[in-house]
Amino acid sequence: MRHVMSPLDFSVEELGQILDLASDIEANPQKYAHACAGRKLATLFYEPSTRTRLSFEAAMLNLGGSVLGFSSADSSSAAKGESVSDTIRVISCYADIAAMRHPKEGAPLVASMKSGIPVINAGDGGHQHPTQTMTDLLTIRSLKGRLDNITVGICGDLKFGRTVHSLIEAMVRYPNVRFVLISPEELRIPDYVRDDVLRKNNQDFKEVTRLEDALPELDILYMTRVQKERFFNEEDYVRMKDFYILDKQKLTLAKPDMMVLHPLPRVNEISVEIDDDPRAAYFRQAQYGVYVRMALILTLLEVKVC
Ligand code: CP
Repeated sequence: MRHVMSPLDFSVEELGQILDLASDIEANPQKYAHACAGRKLATLFYEPSTRTRLSFEAAMLNLGGSVLGFSSADSSSAAKGESVSDTIRVISCYADIAAMRHPKEGAPLVASMKSGIPVINAGDGGHQHPTQTMTDLLTIRSLKGRLDNITVGICGDLKFGRTVHSLIEAMVRYPNVRFVLISPEELRIPDYVRDDVLRKNNQDFKEVTRLEDALPELDILYMTRVQKERFFNEEDYVRMKDFYILDKQKLTLAKPDMMVLHPLPRVNEISVEIDDDPRAAYFRQAQYGVYVRMALILTLLEVKVC
């Protein structure tokens, strides 16, 4: 039995196989329509979510399986003080696989140690969000045709944005990837990402503040929102929240084939006026999230479809 806590739980080769499977699902959805008949997915969400929870549920339903779960800690026995370890032991009696989101870093890992079923980390605090990263990789590979030889700009809250940390960890494993890390001084990437991931891998990266300076050299611009829920005081959040706003004028500085990604939800950091620009790929990215989660469920449940 295998759990997924980080994108690094898979080798590059295994990730490639999951992305290949996701692309086959996209091309031939009917082939997979009954692959998980009789199987159940539990979504255990202790923190709000739209895309991750509902795309997991859509993924299992598309595979012919069923879903159960809760969408907030308040509506589960966590409100009475139940631990994640006890909860997963019980859920293991009800479901075949679980996706867990939790505000505490490491909570899905703790759950996985007592679980009788595969546990997928659906986002733990400011730490990791592996299935968002798999979505991002599938989106980049599908739209750009490659995951190597690429310059990726990541802009916004690089300190608290767990999707950023997971994406960097995953992409340093592909050849000739350059990162341009665009953030205010206060929201730079954590030291452990800079030292243990980027420097340790001799990665080509630079840290800048102005989005306009970075835009012309990028193949991908990965925008992120400022993570309000992880700030200790409202004043700092208000000061930071509109630091970057990608609009039509700024987009004129970008390459004609640069793609704009965003894990969503967005707040103000991408103006709606660019939603119809062919480079705006964030809603297509949300669709890729369903295919990749279907592929992940099949992989973890060891379901083969011929
Ligand atoms: N991208 C993402 O994790 O979105 P949700 O918070 O809506 O799940």
